[in-house]
Amino acid sequence: MKITIIGTGYVGLVTGTCFAEFGHHVTCVDKDQNKISNLLEGIMPIYEPGLDLLVEKNCKEGRLSFTTTLAEAVSSAEAVFLAVGTPSSRRGDGYADLTYIYEATKEIAAELKGYTVIVDKSTVPVGTADQVARIIRETNPDAEFDVASNPEFLREGAAINDFMRPDRVVIGVESDRAENVLRDIYKPLFLRETPIVRTDVKTAELTKYAANAFLATKISFINEIALLCDSIGANVTDLAKGIGMDGRIGSKFLHPGPGYGGSCFPKDTLALLRIAQEHGQSLRIIEATVEVNAAQKAMMVKKIRDALGGDEAGKKLAVLGLTFKPETDDMRDAPAITILPALLEKGANITAHDPQGVSEAKHVLPQTISYVEDAYEACRDADAVILMTEWNQYRALDFDRLKEIMKGNVFIDLRNVYTPKEMQEAGFDYTGVGTC
Ligand code: UDX
Repeated sequence: MKITIIGTGYVGLVTGTCFAEFGHHVTCVDKDQNKISNLLEGIMPIYEPGLDLLVEKNCKEGRLSFTTTLAEAVSSAEAVFLAVGTPSSRRGDGYADLTYIYEATKEIAAELKGYTVIVDKSTVPVGTADQVARIIRETNPDAEFDVASNPEFLREGAAINDFMRPDRVVIGVESDRAENVLRDIYKPLFLRETPIVRTDVKTAELTKYAANAFLATKISFINEIALLCDSIGANVTDLAKGIGMDGRIGSKFLHPGPGYGGSCFPKDTLALLRIAQEHGQSLRIIEATVEVNAAQKAMMVKKIRDALGGDEAGKKLAVLGLTFKPETDDMRDAPAITILPALLEKGANITAHDPQGVSEAKHVLPQTISYVEDAYEACRDADAVILMTEWNQYRALDFDRLKEIMKGNVFIDLRNVYTPKEMQEAGFDYTGVGTC
């Protein structure tokens, strides 16, 4: 099949590349000439494990191409996927900014030839597909098309695997014809017996928000329980096992930490609250999820202060990991952005290490932070180590080496990578999240 993807951001690039890997002929379009030139040279705009090799392979085999010219790519396509950015609007009120979606729609509309399915892949508020259809009808009354919604459930750092082996594919369509086009696109997954859930378009749009809001709620739930464990002296890791093995609950997304971040959960929970508000409803559980997440970051500052004996002034802190999660260079809404400035404000000195995130971090964190290229170097003469993001390379630290180069022995593990027992035995003054 001939597929065109508009937008080579995270979602567009992964989607286009994986469709090419399915065997389809894919053209990825982006207005950013620089991005397209880089992609043509094999330079990725984001760090995502395995993506560069898959792009290279599919380009070589002639199934994947990149261009800034939308016209030809759209007129020859059977399906056009909209994967442009939908940032939180500049008003800061939780609304998604749909400017890029509507601009792209107008351009696509003018170029449509023959029956085409326009698919919303970006996370968009309920009702956006209706607006997209209206714009197409107004711009090109003769166009023969359907608008569908096909939300993505990709995790950064695991996106290729999530795309190739999804738990399910949700397709929101209003006609059997559009359904058949999407089923053909995803045919390689039928062979793996991946369930396809057909819904109407609005339901598919809302499903994405509900999925992310539920996962964010699970995290806020366990983060609150972790704080209670801290107060009681119970262990949240064992507790999470105890509840997670109940099939109705499930063990995933029950890892406490410094609060969820990234490009989806913070933005999508707020957008869902706005959607509900517009329909005269309040979603009190999601409101609490958002509040708990903000409080969790503040609690981490207190946790660090307490571990330092009540005062961070003049203390040298080594921060391991800055990105919102491992295997990405993404700093969007990373807890470090809230936690580190609060520590600096009280007079702490911070040296940080991150395997991929430093160049992004420099844009969003205060300039007083020093960066080093080696994790142990960050810990040299440190009073305390703060493990902020659970990169694999921090999972088996050489404790003897660490103690030798550190000045103090405080280890604050905001991801519960280690256990209190092993750290105490290794001679550290250890603090986890809900594991005291
Ligand atoms: C998420 C969804 O998982 C994905 O389906 C959606 O399409 C996009 O948003 P992503 O943001 O890449 O993906 O990362 P994810 O692995 O879900 O983690 C999000 C945040 O939650 C991270 O900050 C992570 O550290 C945090 N988290 C996750 C926890 O604190 N505890 C957990 O148990 C799981």
